[in-house]
Amino acid sequence: MKSFISIKNVIFSVFIFCLVARSYGDSDDDVVPMEKTEKEALYSAVQGFVGTWWNGSGLYPDPCGWTPIQGVSCDVFDGLWYVTAINVGPVQDNSLVCATNLEFRSQLFELKHLKTLSFFNCFVSPRRHPTAIPFNNWEKLAGSLESLEFRSNPGLIGRVPTGFGSLGKLQSLVLIENGLSGELPANIGNLINLKRLVLAGNGFTGRIPHSFGSLSSLLIFDLSRNTLSGTLPASLGGLTSLLKLDLSNNQLEGMLPSEISHLKNLTLLDLRNNKLAGGLTKSLQGLVSLEELVLSDNHIGGVLMSIEWQNLYNLVILDLSNIGLKGEIPESISKLKRLRFLGLSDNNLTGKLSAKLATLPCLGALYLNGNNLTGELKFAEGFYGRMGRRFGAWNNPHLCYPVGLKSDSVVPHGVKPCRQEVTLLEPHARTKLADGNWNQNSHFVASLGFASNAIDGFWWVSAVGIWICAFL
Ligand SMILES: *[C@@H]1O[C@H](CO)[C@@H](O)[C@H](O)[C@H]1NC(C)=O
Ligand SMILES: *[C@@H]1O[C@H](CO)[C@@H](O)[C@H](O)[C@H]1NC(C)=O
Ligand SMILES: *[C@@H]1O[C@H](CO)[C@@H](O)[C@H](O)[C@H]1NC(C)=O
Ligand SMILES: *[C@@H]1O[C@H](CO)[C@@H](O)[C@H](O)[C@H]1NC(C)=O
Repeated sequence: MKSFISIKNVIFSVFIFCLVARSYGDSDDDVVPMEKTEKEALYSAVQGFVGTWWNGSGLYPDPCGWTPIQGVSCDVFDGLWYVTAINVGPVQDNSLVCATNLEFRSQLFELKHLKTLSFFNCFVSPRRHPTAIPFNNWEKLAGSLESLEFRSNPGLIGRVPTGFGSLGKLQSLVLIENGLSGELPANIGNLINLKRLVLAGNGFTGRIPHSFGSLSSLLIFDLSRNTLSGTLPASLGGLTSLLKLDLSNNQLEGMLPSEISHLKNLTLLDLRNNKLAGGLTKSLQGLVSLEELVLSDNHIGGVLMSIEWQNLYNLVILDLSNIGLKGEIPESISKLKRLRFLGLSDNNLTGKLSAKLATLPCLGALYLNGNNLTGELKFAEGFYGRMGRRFGAWNNPHLCYPVGLKSDSVVPHGVKPCRQEVTLLEPHARTKLADGNWNQNSHFVASLGFASNAIDGFWWVSAVGIWICAFL
């Protein structure tokens, strides 16, 4: 009975209530199977959040049974109701809505079976009613609290209480999009049962504490959109269960620690928009489960050749835009068969492009603009029509496309035609383009009979590719 939002749970609550009421053998009006202290603590705590006008009088005097308070869940321990969850904020039409000058009353910490506490869109006024999270008493909830969440509370200011470090049963700590600031308390690293640690979208400063590397059960770790600085601690290699690591949009610097290769189950690594440097470290190759690798907008530098990309065969999104890459684009990238997005724009990449890139079966966007690539684009003509502006090759002054591509709809945007090719133009190429609306089904069906033709053959590959994509 974690939540009684569903009818099923309400019915179940009523059923339990009847059982409990019957076992007491009293008339319903007299039976309140809840300790007086528990009930008073609940009413006072809720009053603190929603305002003193609220006294529960509109309800049957039993917050857990017949007419439970919206956002409050209970469970039975030793024949008595106890509060297990309080969720405050406008989640549903009849949710408990926060008062403008809400307060944390100390009675909140007397709820001895409280497992879940969450505040959504409650502390909304950083100027008129800035509120800090209370510093004391959290240890009283250490034996029960499993999930603590403050979401979208711009008026919630100040530091994270060090008392959070005593909540040893916590599995989820989510402090997202609030007005919190200061350094992250190192003793959060004591919360070894944490599976989710999300501290994104605040004003946190300082370094990522070394101690966070002890959170070996962590699955989701998100410190994005803060002002964290310093280097990534090598201890992050201890987060061996991790699935998602998002440290994007901070001021982090230095090299990626080689220990990062220990994160064998990591599917997302997002470090975009930091000040990371030191080249593309070979240890990235160890992240064999990676589906999304986003390192864009950093000072990383180095060359793409330093990594054997085929090792990262699960990659779906690879964004290495604007990180100061040099050298050529290795053909090993065209072995990433699941790739849907490849961003290499605004680097200093040179050399010729392998036509194999365009044969990636799932590719939906390819950005190579803002480099110094050279030579002739050798992709099949249908590729440009299919991709449109999602193929970016502009701002490569020495890149050109073969003049055989005449129609405006299929030339790659912002790329000039290759001059020396003019004499090679074959007449039949023109006629094909003249009737060519490459996207129409009729054309596609017709093309199946002409698979030896380069352009139509591409369509066949492409259609099969989409089919394969769904199964990769
Ligand atoms: C509870 O509030 C109602 C109005 O909302 C009021 O009429 C009633 O007297 C209050 N009861 C107590 C016990 O304060
Ligand atoms: C990684 O994932 C696999 C499969 O889901 C799981 O069996 C394994 O325990 C995970 N490894 C760690 C260190 O969590
Ligand atoms: C690209 O590399 C060349 C040659 O090494 C250098 O002159 C140029 O400044 C670099 N451009 C950028 C944007 O880094
Ligand atoms: C781009 O490459 C060409 C030839 O490869 C070279 O001459 C030119 O200096 C390069 N431009 C930049 C900005 O690096």
